[in-house]
Amino acid sequence: MIEVVSRAFADVFRPAYLKYAFRQPATVIAVANLKGGCGKSTVAVNLACELAGNGDGVLLLDNDSQGTSIHWIAQGRLPIRGQAMPLERFEDGERLVRAVAAANDRYIVLDAPAHVEAATQAAGRVADLVLIPVTASGIDLVATQTVVNLMRQARVVRRSGGPACLVIPSKIDRRTDAGRQIWEQLQQFGEPIGPAVHQRTAFADAFSAGQWIGDYAPQSAAHYDISTLAVAVKRILRA
Ligand SMILES: Nc1ncnc2c1ncn2[C@@H]1O[C@H](COP(=O)(O)OP(=O)(O)O)[C@@H](O)[C@H]1O
Ligand SMILES: [Mg+2]
Repeated sequence: MIEVVSRAFADVFRPAYLKYAFRQPATVIAVANLKGGCGKSTVAVNLACELAGNGDGVLLLDNDSQGTSIHWIAQGRLPIRGQAMPLERFEDGERLVRAVAAANDRYIVLDAPAHVEAATQAAGRVADLVLIPVTASGIDLVATQTVVNLMRQARVVRRSGGPACLVIPSKIDRRTDAGRQIWEQLQQFGEPIGPAVHQRTAFADAFSAGQWIGDYAPQSAAHYDISTLAVAVKRILRA
């Protein structure tokens, strides 16, 4: 809480010419769910690029050994820096803590792997905010509960209060019953629910083109989903 308040205070009262005189800690946003294919990398990369839009430095740490984000960034068409940092075991979390402490960026976005609880736990140690993309399929809800439980444990352990969570309805198709009903189902986690990222082919096409959605399809409905998410994220971080 104190961290967040002091950061918001510094943002408002720091004169522009002092911008580089003080080194603020980076704000860390993790994108995590133990389920694969629910849109973690899509949300992580596009949100990171949107956050970079007003000149803020953004570092994406790809904690997934599959390397989806890092391959995307390596094509050289995104406005963010990236680093591969696969997390397989709890001990690997030490590297993450050191990287976060050393970073000069305004934001660090973590793209967490599926199926690796240790990596999700490590994210819970350093993140200010954990975004949890959830699709409308049943099995997702079990994996999501595990992530929420890990973040609640992190809140108990961390003296600063631990990470805020935002559950993100992901790959949502409002034409289907499941797509319409997901909001009710997501209430059960007892965490805030963020704006939806809808199922849109532009997301997959932007990825194939090595671009982010704001470059590939600026002002499109898909870009609007990401801009809206970025506004929600900033609002939570300042609360
Ligand atoms: N909102 C979306 N609309 C359409 N396709 C999506 C969306 N989000 C993700 N995808 C596609 O779904 C697949 C898995 O997404 P990805 O972000 O890699 O998930 P994860 O990182 O959770 O495994 C990819 O082919 C991606 O392009
Ligand atoms: Mg991924």
